[in-house]
Amino acid sequence: MELTMHRPLLLIGCGKMGSALLSGWLKRDMLGEGVHIVEPMGATQFAEIAGVKIHKSVNDLPEGLTPEVIVFAVKPQKMEEVAPAYKQFVSPHTLFLSIAAGTTITFFESTLGRNAAIIRAMPNTPAAIGKGITVACPNNKASDQQAALAKLMLEAVGEVTLIYDESLLDPVTAVSGSGPAYVFLMVEALAKAGIVAGLPKTLADQLAVLTVAGAGALAAASKETPAQLRENVTSPAGTTFEALQVLMDDDGLQQLMTRAVAAATRRSKELAG
Ligand SMILES: NC(=O)c1ccc[n+]([C@@H]2O[C@H](COP(=O)([O-])OP(=O)(O)OC[C@H]3O[C@@H](n4cnc5c(N)ncnc54)[C@H](OP(=O)(O)O)[C@@H]3O)[C@@H](O)[C@H]2O)c1
Repeated sequence: MELTMHRPLLLIGCGKMGSALLSGWLKRDMLGEGVHIVEPMGATQFAEIAGVKIHKSVNDLPEGLTPEVIVFAVKPQKMEEVAPAYKQFVSPHTLFLSIAAGTTITFFESTLGRNAAIIRAMPNTPAAIGKGITVACPNNKASDQQAALAKLMLEAVGEVTLIYDESLLDPVTAVSGSGPAYVFLMVEALAKAGIVAGLPKTLADQLAVLTVAGAGALAAASKETPAQLRENVTSPAGTTFEALQVLMDDDGLQQLMTRAVAAATRRSKELAG
């Protein structure tokens, strides 16, 4: 699908995630009608780019602005203070797209009104290098076309999956939102175990990070399942087999991961209220 923006984009918050998204849209030449940024810090890295207008506050936006999409990329704890000022832009032709973790569609509907077209998205940190996975959920006022537009916009920082059941965003947050931290811990643990087994630290660190990166890339690119790929490197009574006996024990990795994801899911529900 061709992305056709007939009106400008309005980006609220241009920190880590906002600027990663904006860089992706600019690189893909998606913003034909330009972008207005509201960012108290000034977003100076984008100041010289044609079509980009930066404002310190919502009060500085030009009169008569009718954005096609308003992207909320401020911290969740700022949302209650920030969102109400954008109620003035609610119309069937303006989509509100939020990437704030844990901020619910119900919050936006109570703040902006039930007529607002809203999509709540959950990206993850690999978005910073275009390798994110984002799950996005539209409310019943967002049209299929607006959902498709949001998907294309979010694809600027990686893969995107649309869902229509918001309750899934709690386990989504626990798996892909928090997931990069579990993988970083895996890198740390593998490196430390290598040191214990006799490797110098520099070599252990290098082997751990590149093994996780390479195996992740192989799992993503391969037609085989992760289980099949695992079996492919496991010869009977070999070294991998010995290690997997430990990792796949009754109190092994699966049990730990299931508990970790359950704990994060529970916390996501608590934070959403
Ligand atoms: N980083 C991630 O990997 C990640 C992953 C998933 C989801 N998210 C979500 O993405 C959102 C942004 O996260 P981030 O890591 O990009 O945070 P961030 O780097 O702190 O960016 C937020 C930006 O919004 C600005 N801001 C504060 N008040 C504002 C206002 N009234 N109007 C406009 N802008 C305002 C902040 O400026 P000040 O610094 O002056 O406050 C800051 O530059 C969060 O809701 C987070 O849950 C982030």
